[in-house]
Amino acid sequence: MLTTRRQALKTITAAALASTALGRFSASAQPATETPTTTARSTVPIGPFTLPTLPYAYDALEPHIDAETMHLHHDKHHAGYVTKLNEAVAKDKPFELSLGSKPDVDVQLRALAAVPDSIRLAVRNQGGGHSNHSLFWQTLSKKGGKPVGELATGLDKAFGGLEAFKAEAAKAGAGVFGSGWVWLTLDAAKKLAIETSPNQDTPISEGKVALFGIDVWEHAYYLKYHNLRADYITALWNVVNWDFLSDRYAKALKG
Ligand SMILES: [Fe+2]
Repeated sequence: MLTTRRQALKTITAAALASTALGRFSASAQPATETPTTTARSTVPIGPFTLPTLPYAYDALEPHIDAETMHLHHDKHHAGYVTKLNEAVAKDKPFELSLGSKPDVDVQLRALAAVPDSIRLAVRNQGGGHSNHSLFWQTLSKKGGKPVGELATGLDKAFGGLEAFKAEAAKAGAGVFGSGWVWLTLDAAKKLAIETSPNQDTPISEGKVALFGIDVWEHAYYLKYHNLRADYITALWNVVNWDFLSDRYAKALKG
Protein backbone atom coordinates (compact mmCIF):
# COMPACT_ATOMS: atom_id res chain seq x y z
CA MET A 1 0.00 0.00 0.00
CA LEU A 2 2.79 2.39 0.99
CA THR A 3 4.80 1.61 -2.14
CA THR A 4 1.79 1.99 -4.37
CA ARG A 5 0.92 5.35 -2.91
CA ARG A 6 4.48 6.55 -3.15
CA GLN A 7 4.67 5.47 -6.76
CA ALA A 8 1.49 7.35 -7.47
CA LEU A 9 2.89 10.51 -5.90
CA LYS A 10 6.09 10.12 -7.91
CA THR A 11 4.03 9.86 -11.06
CA ILE A 12 2.07 12.97 -10.18
CA THR A 13 5.30 14.82 -9.42
CA ALA A 14 6.84 13.82 -12.73
CA ALA A 15 3.77 15.08 -14.53
CA ALA A 16 3.84 18.28 -12.50
CA LEU A 17 7.48 18.93 -13.33
CA ALA A 18 6.89 18.26 -16.99
CA SER A 19 4.00 20.67 -16.93
CA THR A 20 6.04 23.23 -15.02
CA ALA A 21 8.76 23.09 -17.63
CA LEU A 22 6.22 24.08 -20.26
CA GLY A 23 4.63 27.00 -18.50
CA ARG A 24 4.03 27.71 -14.87
CA PHE A 25 0.94 29.55 -13.94
CA SER A 26 -1.30 30.70 -16.71
CA ALA A 27 -2.05 30.84 -20.37
CA SER A 28 0.07 33.99 -20.54
CA ALA A 29 3.14 31.77 -20.21
CA GLN A 30 2.39 30.28 -23.63
CA PRO A 31 4.29 31.63 -26.64
CA ALA A 32 2.18 34.23 -28.43
CA THR A 33 2.36 32.30 -31.68
CA GLU A 34 1.15 29.05 -30.20
CA THR A 35 -2.24 27.91 -31.38
CA PRO A 36 -4.48 26.96 -28.45
CA THR A 37 -5.16 23.24 -28.47
CA THR A 38 -7.96 23.30 -25.94
CA THR A 39 -10.73 25.63 -24.99
CA ALA A 40 -10.51 24.74 -21.31
CA ARG A 41 -7.39 26.81 -20.74
CA SER A 42 -8.98 29.99 -22.08
CA THR A 43 -12.13 29.56 -20.00
CA VAL A 44 -10.42 29.04 -16.64
CA PRO A 45 -10.52 32.29 -14.67
CA ILE A 46 -7.00 33.62 -14.12
CA GLY A 47 -7.92 36.24 -11.56
CA PRO A 48 -8.46 38.16 -9.43
CA PHE A 49 -6.43 36.03 -7.00
CA THR A 50 -2.88 35.20 -8.05
CA LEU A 51 -0.21 32.73 -7.02
CA PRO A 52 2.66 34.44 -5.19
CA THR A 53 6.16 33.65 -6.36
CA LEU A 54 8.11 31.31 -4.13
CA PRO A 55 10.56 33.61 -2.26
CA TYR A 56 13.52 31.24 -2.82
CA ALA A 57 14.66 28.50 -5.16
CA TYR A 58 12.86 25.16 -5.13
CA ASP A 59 15.95 23.45 -3.73
CA ALA A 60 16.73 26.17 -1.16
CA LEU A 61 15.41 24.11 1.74
CA GLU A 62 17.32 20.94 0.83
CA PRO A 63 18.00 18.53 2.40
CA HIS A 64 15.21 19.16 4.88
CA ILE A 65 12.49 19.85 2.31
CA ASP A 66 13.27 18.43 -1.11
CA ALA A 67 12.98 20.33 -4.37
CA GLU A 68 10.47 17.89 -5.87
CA THR A 69 8.11 18.46 -2.99
CA MET A 70 8.50 22.22 -3.27
CA HIS A 71 7.78 22.10 -7.01
CA LEU A 72 4.66 20.05 -6.53
CA HIS A 73 3.53 21.85 -3.40
CA HIS A 74 3.82 25.36 -4.78
CA ASP A 75 3.26 24.97 -8.52
CA LYS A 76 0.45 22.43 -8.33
CA HIS A 77 -1.20 22.33 -4.93
CA HIS A 78 -1.07 26.04 -4.09
CA ALA A 79 -1.74 26.96 -7.70
CA GLY A 80 -4.73 24.63 -7.61
CA TYR A 81 -6.23 26.45 -4.64
CA VAL A 82 -5.84 29.77 -6.44
CA THR A 83 -7.43 28.47 -9.63
CA LYS A 84 -10.37 26.94 -7.80
CA LEU A 85 -10.81 30.06 -5.68
CA ASN A 86 -11.01 32.15 -8.85
CA GLU A 87 -13.45 29.70 -10.38
CA ALA A 88 -15.62 29.94 -7.27
CA VAL A 89 -15.77 33.73 -7.07
CA ALA A 90 -16.46 33.91 -10.83
CA LYS A 91 -19.79 32.22 -10.10
CA ASP A 92 -20.99 35.30 -8.21
CA LYS A 93 -20.21 38.31 -10.36
CA PRO A 94 -21.30 41.01 -7.88
CA PHE A 95 -19.12 39.44 -5.22
CA GLU A 96 -16.22 39.03 -7.65
CA LEU A 97 -16.48 42.67 -8.66
CA SER A 98 -16.59 43.73 -5.02
CA LEU A 99 -13.15 42.19 -4.52
CA GLY A 100 -11.39 44.69 -6.77
CA SER A 101 -8.38 43.93 -8.92
CA LYS A 102 -5.98 43.00 -6.11
CA PRO A 103 -8.05 41.30 -3.44
CA ASP A 104 -6.74 40.10 -0.08
CA VAL A 105 -8.10 36.63 0.59
CA ASP A 106 -7.52 37.10 4.33
CA VAL A 107 -10.19 39.81 4.34
CA GLN A 108 -12.71 37.26 3.07
CA LEU A 109 -11.58 34.59 5.52
CA ARG A 110 -11.96 36.95 8.46
CA ALA A 111 -15.56 37.57 7.47
CA LEU A 112 -16.77 34.31 5.96
CA ALA A 113 -20.34 35.02 7.03
CA ALA A 114 -20.37 37.92 4.58
CA VAL A 115 -19.42 35.68 1.65
CA PRO A 116 -22.44 34.57 -0.41
CA ASP A 117 -23.86 31.22 0.72
CA SER A 118 -23.33 29.57 -2.66
CA ILE A 119 -19.57 30.05 -2.64
CA ARG A 120 -18.76 30.30 1.08
CA LEU A 121 -17.47 26.74 1.42
CA ALA A 122 -15.27 27.12 -1.65
CA VAL A 123 -13.83 30.38 -0.32
CA ARG A 124 -13.23 28.71 3.05
CA ASN A 125 -11.46 25.71 1.52
CA GLN A 126 -9.74 27.13 -1.57
CA GLY A 127 -9.24 30.59 -0.08
CA GLY A 128 -7.92 28.98 3.09
CA GLY A 129 -5.48 26.97 1.02
CA HIS A 130 -4.33 30.12 -0.74
CA SER A 131 -3.92 32.08 2.48
CA ASN A 132 -2.25 29.30 4.45
CA HIS A 133 0.31 28.49 1.78
CA SER A 134 1.04 32.15 1.05
CA LEU A 135 2.07 32.46 4.70
CA PHE A 136 3.83 29.09 4.82
CA TRP A 137 6.37 29.95 2.09
CA GLN A 138 7.34 33.15 3.89
CA THR A 139 7.92 31.38 7.19
CA LEU A 140 10.61 29.11 5.77
CA SER A 141 14.21 29.93 4.92
CA LYS A 142 17.43 28.02 4.49
CA LYS A 143 18.97 30.46 6.98
CA GLY A 144 17.09 29.01 9.94
CA GLY A 145 18.12 30.68 13.19
CA LYS A 146 16.27 31.31 16.42
CA PRO A 147 13.46 33.57 17.67
CA VAL A 148 14.64 37.00 18.76
CA GLY A 149 13.26 39.90 20.73
CA GLU A 150 9.64 39.80 21.80
CA LEU A 151 8.98 36.43 20.17
CA ALA A 152 11.78 34.80 22.13
CA THR A 153 10.35 36.29 25.31
CA GLY A 154 6.82 35.37 24.31
CA LEU A 155 7.68 31.73 23.65
CA ASP A 156 9.49 31.55 26.97
CA LYS A 157 6.49 32.92 28.81
CA ALA A 158 3.83 30.90 26.98
CA PHE A 159 5.55 27.55 26.59
CA GLY A 160 8.70 27.58 28.70
CA GLY A 161 11.09 28.20 25.84
CA LEU A 162 11.74 27.39 22.22
CA GLU A 163 12.43 23.70 22.70
CA ALA A 164 9.28 23.25 24.76
CA PHE A 165 7.29 25.09 22.08
CA LYS A 166 8.71 22.84 19.37
CA ALA A 167 7.89 19.73 21.36
CA GLU A 168 4.33 20.85 21.99
CA ALA A 169 3.82 21.84 18.35
CA ALA A 170 5.19 18.50 17.17
CA LYS A 171 2.84 16.69 19.53
CA ALA A 172 -0.07 18.71 18.17
CA GLY A 173 1.02 17.85 14.63
CA ALA A 174 1.04 14.16 15.41
CA GLY A 175 -2.49 14.51 16.70
CA VAL A 176 -3.98 16.00 13.54
CA PHE A 177 -6.16 13.32 12.01
CA GLY A 178 -5.97 13.40 8.26
CA SER A 179 -5.01 16.70 6.66
CA GLY A 180 -4.61 19.98 8.45
CA TRP A 181 -2.34 22.52 10.08
CA VAL A 182 -0.62 23.24 13.37
CA TRP A 183 -0.70 26.90 14.30
CA LEU A 184 1.01 29.36 16.55
CA THR A 185 -1.74 31.89 17.13
CA LEU A 186 -2.19 35.19 18.87
CA ASP A 187 -5.63 36.06 20.16
CA ALA A 188 -7.23 39.43 20.84
CA ALA A 189 -5.82 39.40 24.37
CA LYS A 190 -2.32 38.94 22.86
CA LYS A 191 -2.06 35.42 24.21
CA LEU A 192 0.05 32.91 22.30
CA ALA A 193 -1.30 29.41 21.76
CA ILE A 194 -0.71 26.25 19.75
CA GLU A 195 -3.80 25.13 17.88
CA THR A 196 -4.69 22.77 15.07
CA SER A 197 -7.17 23.04 12.24
CA PRO A 198 -8.59 20.49 9.80
CA ASN A 199 -8.32 20.82 6.04
CA GLN A 200 -7.48 24.42 5.08
CA ASP A 201 -9.30 26.13 7.92
CA THR A 202 -7.40 29.07 9.37
CA PRO A 203 -7.41 30.74 12.80
CA ILE A 204 -7.99 34.09 11.14
CA SER A 205 -11.59 32.99 10.59
CA GLU A 206 -11.85 32.93 14.39
CA GLY A 207 -10.53 36.45 14.78
CA LYS A 208 -7.00 35.37 15.67
CA VAL A 209 -3.63 36.11 14.11
CA ALA A 210 -2.07 33.11 12.40
CA LEU A 211 1.57 33.78 13.20
CA PHE A 212 2.98 30.50 11.93
CA GLY A 213 1.46 27.39 10.42
CA ILE A 214 2.95 23.95 9.91
CA ASP A 215 1.39 22.23 6.93
CA VAL A 216 0.77 18.60 7.91
CA TRP A 217 -1.01 17.56 4.74
CA GLU A 218 0.71 14.54 3.25
CA HIS A 219 1.49 16.55 0.11
CA ALA A 220 3.92 18.57 2.25
CA TYR A 221 6.13 15.65 3.14
CA TYR A 222 5.15 12.29 1.66
CA LEU A 223 7.73 12.15 -1.16
CA LYS A 224 10.67 12.40 1.23
CA TYR A 225 9.30 11.33 4.59
CA HIS A 226 6.58 8.91 3.44
CA ASN A 227 4.20 8.35 6.36
CA LEU A 228 6.65 9.72 8.95
CA ARG A 229 5.04 13.06 9.71
CA ALA A 230 7.04 13.43 12.93
CA ASP A 231 10.33 13.23 10.99
CA TYR A 232 9.11 15.94 8.62
CA ILE A 233 8.22 18.25 11.50
CA THR A 234 11.60 17.61 13.14
CA ALA A 235 13.34 18.51 9.87
CA LEU A 236 11.17 21.57 9.33
CA TRP A 237 12.56 23.30 12.41
CA ASN A 238 15.91 23.59 10.55
CA VAL A 239 14.35 25.88 7.96
CA VAL A 240 11.97 28.04 9.96
CA ASN A 241 12.48 31.72 9.17
CA TRP A 242 12.65 32.97 12.74
CA ASP A 243 13.62 36.49 11.69
CA PHE A 244 10.38 36.74 9.70
CA LEU A 245 8.33 35.27 12.54
CA SER A 246 9.94 37.51 15.15
CA ASP A 247 9.11 40.55 13.05
CA ARG A 248 5.59 39.25 12.38
CA TYR A 249 4.97 38.75 16.09
CA ALA A 250 6.28 42.21 16.99
CA LYS A 251 3.92 43.78 14.44
CA ALA A 252 0.99 41.67 15.64
CA LEU A 253 1.54 42.82 19.23
CA LYS A 254 1.18 46.41 18.06
CA GLY A 255 -1.82 45.67 15.84
FE1 LIG B 1 0.18 22.25 1.57
